[in-house]
Amino acid sequence: MGYPKIVVKPPGPKAREIVERDHAIISPSFGRAYPLVIKSGRGCIITDVDGNEYIDLNAGLAVCNVGHSHPRVVQAVKDQVDRFLHYSYTDFYYENYVDLGETLQELIPGDFEKKFFYGNSGAESVEAAIKLSRWHSRRQGILAYIGAFHGRTLGAVSLTASKPAQRRYFAPLVPGVEHIFYPYCYRCPFNLEYPDCGFRCVTYIDDYLFKKFVPPEEVAMIFVEPIQGEGGYVVPPDGYYKALRELCDEHGILIAADEVQSGFGRTGKWFASEHFDLVPDIICMAKGIAAGLPLGVTASRADLMDWTPGSHASTFGGNPVSASAAIEVIKIIKEERLLENAEKVGGHLMKRLREMQDSHPMIGDVRGRGLMVGVELVKDRDSKEPAKEETEEVMMRCFEKGAALVNCGVSVIRWMPPLLITEELIDSALEIFDGVLGEVEKKL
Ligand SMILES: Cc1ncc(COP(=O)(O)O)c(C=O)c1O
Repeated sequence: MGYPKIVVKPPGPKAREIVERDHAIISPSFGRAYPLVIKSGRGCIITDVDGNEYIDLNAGLAVCNVGHSHPRVVQAVKDQVDRFLHYSYTDFYYENYVDLGETLQELIPGDFEKKFFYGNSGAESVEAAIKLSRWHSRRQGILAYIGAFHGRTLGAVSLTASKPAQRRYFAPLVPGVEHIFYPYCYRCPFNLEYPDCGFRCVTYIDDYLFKKFVPPEEVAMIFVEPIQGEGGYVVPPDGYYKALRELCDEHGILIAADEVQSGFGRTGKWFASEHFDLVPDIICMAKGIAAGLPLGVTASRADLMDWTPGSHASTFGGNPVSASAAIEVIKIIKEERLLENAEKVGGHLMKRLREMQDSHPMIGDVRGRGLMVGVELVKDRDSKEPAKEETEEVMMRCFEKGAALVNCGVSVIRWMPPLLITEELIDSALEIFDGVLGEVEKKL
């Protein structure tokens, strides 16, 4: 029998009991998607505590790119656990920390020497980028994007502009940050059409920021998700990054790419930047890099890392167990040809979703690269009014039927399964999605 296998309507009794215990003792600050309580995972299938088996289209939120508990990662971790668990890199050395940097050096865009700093999370990789750009340039300003998500520490949240709840009551945030429009062509903030728009979303930075209130010589970097993640899986049009790079070069501003969600094969390339010939000066990585173990990496052009001892460090960052997992993840992606699979299966997924647009008026837009695919749902294709509540309902009903998907942006369903997913599993999930869209559309 194929997947999914739903034996009791989720959430079943055990899941409900754990959720209730959670509510009594765990911080209510998490914004949960639905009451999925995981017991185990293998490959692209996750099993909940009541025995339901789901097709995982979340990959633990774009983390388990090589699938759940890949046996080779498990073995690499066990081997490292047997050797030693920790010896703080703040003060000492161990070999796989260096091995990882040497391996990553080859994968990261840019035909130049790079240097690496390791933390434990996406947010920490962003913090390191903020500090590094300021240290190196001696400039304070940072431009970030409306719709961006970069994490929850105070520095990262100062760049984040995706939901008011993420910032409410936390001010004062880090000063010196201005937000600019993301190239979201489906909802162009200037009401223009690509390619006739002349990249107004770049030229206005010069016209309205640099000429009115942001001295460009005080801006250290522009911080960008090459494909915007939490903001709605938004893909910039061709030529955007060329125009942005020209603007930055004119003013000596660095470009930092947040590849925390889009990196490590998610888009069918090691980094989403490669789709746009973007060569960032700084790249932030986390999530998919270590198959679920905590690791954040900040890479930069070697000449930028001229900060001096004591300026930045982390006790646990790049711990030897995470480093061993990351090295194995890279080997698996190469040897199992997961970039190719992401491109092939992602192409199939996008094609099928676009075909579904004919029968589902709620599908306003289908966009993405590789296995980072977003479906924007609207109440009406002409007005493009976001189908916010309907998107939540689609997500919930898909979960109940065994396709674990989450939303992003205002009304976008995102597809980000492990990179080893097959077309058969995608087709099973699409069948559920198709049926659920039909049910929800009837109520419009
Ligand atoms: C693009 C991006 N940057 C940074 C982060 C923050 O990562 P973490 O939750 O590991 O701090 C996320 C998390 O979703 C993300 O999607």
